Amino acid sequence: MSTIIVTGGAGFIGGNFVHYHLKEHPEDRIVCIDKLTYAGNLSTLASVMNNPNFRFVKLDICDREGIFKLFEEEKPDVVINFAAESHVDRSIEDPGIFLQTNIMGTATMMDACREYGNIRYHQVSTDEVYGDLPLDRPDLFFTETTPIHTSSPYSSSKAGADLLVMAYFRTYGLPVTISRCSNNYGPYHFPEKLIPLMIANCLNDKPLPVYGEGKNVRDWLYVEDHCKAIDLIVRNGSVGEVYNVGGHNEMANIDIVKLIIKELGKDESLITYVTDRKGHDLRYAIDPTKIHNELGWLPETKFADGIKKTIKWYLDNRSWWEEIISGEYQKYYDKMYGDSNNGDYL
Ligand code: NAD
Ligand code: TYD
Repeated sequence: MSTIIVTGGAGFIGGNFVHYHLKEHPEDRIVCIDKLTYAGNLSTLASVMNNPNFRFVKLDICDREGIFKLFEEEKPDVVINFAAESHVDRSIEDPGIFLQTNIMGTATMMDACREYGNIRYHQVSTDEVYGDLPLDRPDLFFTETTPIHTSSPYSSSKAGADLLVMAYFRTYGLPVTISRCSNNYGPYHFPEKLIPLMIANCLNDKPLPVYGEGKNVRDWLYVEDHCKAIDLIVRNGSVGEVYNVGGHNEMANIDIVKLIIKELGKDESLITYVTDRKGHDLRYAIDPTKIHNELGWLPETKFADGIKKTIKWYLDNRSWWEEIISGEYQKYYDKMYGDSNNGDYL
């Protein structure tokens, strides 16, 4: 039995990972740390709160004293760091908290790992650290040796964290790994991101704000496939290594939006083209050869099935997202989409 500290477990991917891990490895103990920012929802963890092998602690990963105290108490074997400020648009509005949480928080977690016995550390990173690829070169993909070349304050803060992780490996010998995954989708995805936002707006017959011409391409992976990849890397990956995670499922934003409209039986007249994101990355595309060859990982959920499952989840769990879009998030939404684009999208 291992004790695993999962940070950011009240968020989208961390929450899915908690559920996945407790199901797949019920012998392990999971201690979830989350600051419960606007993006953290305890309702995501409601069904595991009473599991004797699960503990939730409301804690900021930058709170050194609190983190060190928790490590002393829990004596973890593994730390998996999902906690981050994760939304590109918010990072363009206000980069400061991204640097604080994504870089300083990562350093704090690794310092605690060093202090309490060289604990195994995994950093959940993103393909966005590689910048973007041109739309007219479908032959190009991100590999683990693609240079770091970031576009947004978000991706820069994640890249900064990755560099620190590798420095802790080289300098202190901390046993680390990094995964760089493409865009995830699935249950518990906060409705400020493309897929859940479009599902929620469609269901409410509200305009669907597509940035620019909707031609930007993302490489989508069902969240459970990402969870499986992280689990494999933590168990069997080589320390000091980076693993790209992605399922070769590239789609233009506009095609995703049209697919959601079709699945929900709505009309394409809901599509509203709005001002493009500043510095908008054109295309992300992962080459997952390394994780496939070394660890045998392959994505299991095809996009056609995953998107249906996801839409069904949002239909079956309306209270989860309706509560979110009626609260504090509404102010952000009004600011982002209300003024410059003169719309009332939610
Ligand atoms: P999310 O925004 O849904 O969740 C982030 C969670 O971290 C929230 O629960 C939030 O409360 C918590 N958090 C934020 N700041 C914190 C702090 N200082 N201390 C403790 N907890 C804090 O994000 P997500 O989409 O689940 O992403 C999780 C990780 O995966 C991030 O590191 C992100 O960079 C990475 N990632 C995301 C994607 C994607 O498509 N969503 C793809 C690749 C990598
Ligand atoms: P997002 O879900 O924010 O993920 P990321 O920027 O990290 O890839 O956005 C995915 C794509 O969808 C991105 O190209 C921006 C675009 N997008 C829109 O067109 N409209 C929106 O309202 C949002 C949130 C995103």
